[in-house]
Amino acid sequence: SQSTALSHLNIVVTAGPTQEELDPVRYITNHSSGKMGFAIAKAAVSLGAKVTLISGPVNLETPYNVNRHNVRTAIDMHQAALEYAQHADIFIACAAVADYRAKVVADQKMKKHDDSNELVLTLVKNPDIVADVANMQHNRPFVVGFAAETHNVEAYALKKLTTKHLDMICANDVSSKQQGFNTDDNALTLYWKSGKLPLPLTNKNQLGLQLVTEIIKHYNEYTNE
Ligand code: C5P
Repeated sequence: SQSTALSHLNIVVTAGPTQEELDPVRYITNHSSGKMGFAIAKAAVSLGAKVTLISGPVNLETPYNVNRHNVRTAIDMHQAALEYAQHADIFIACAAVADYRAKVVADQKMKKHDDSNELVLTLVKNPDIVADVANMQHNRPFVVGFAAETHNVEAYALKKLTTKHLDMICANDVSSKQQGFNTDDNALTLYWKSGKLPLPLTNKNQLGLQLVTEIIKHYNEYTNE
C-alpha cells in the first residue's frame, strides 16, 4: 500500500510566520496563517510519512500524528530546521520567515518620545533557512521552497530556485484575495530545473495532497539518479 511505501520517509515542514521582537511587548510579523504548511504536513502523514512540523505562532491544531515543534523567531526556526534537517529525506519550507529582525531588542518597553515624530528602527537580515538547508554538506535532504509573490511570479520563483539551490519551488501568487495568505484555498505552480506543473485553485488540504504526491515523485527520481 501507499502508506508502507512511504513509511520510511522523514519529512520536515516549516510553516507560519515568525515573530521578530522589538521589545518585551512588541514584534514584527506578517499575514501568514500557517494553513498551507499544516495542510502539507497532514497530507504527508496521510501518505504514510513521518512528519515534523516546525511552526511559527499560529492558531491551528496539530494534525494527527504530526510531531510539532513550535518556534517564534527566525533565529529559533533556523536552529530547529538545521537540526531536524539532518534526519530528513525531504525538507519543505512553507514558512513566511521575516527577512529582517531588529538589530537591538530593547529589554524594556520602548517609550514614546515627545521631541520627535519619527522613530528609526535598524533591522538586520535573518538567516535564510531554506538556503542553509539546501547548502548542507552532509545528509542534505531534497529541498522544496515556496515563493509568495505579488508580481513577476514565475521569474522570481525561478530565480529563488537557482540562487537558493532548491530542488523544487512552489510559486504562490498572493496578489489575489481568493488565494494565498490566510485563506482556505490556494493555487500553486511547481517548478523544478527542467519543468513545471500548475496546481489550480482548490482548498489547501486537497492542494497539499497533490503537492506532496508530486514532491515524492521527484524525490524518488532524484534518489534514483
Ligand atoms: O522570503 P523568500 O520569498 O525568499 O522565501 C522563499 C522561500 O525561502 C520560502 O520557502 C521560505 O520559507 C524560505 N525562507 C527561509 N528563510 C528565510 C526567508 C525565506 O527559509 N529567512
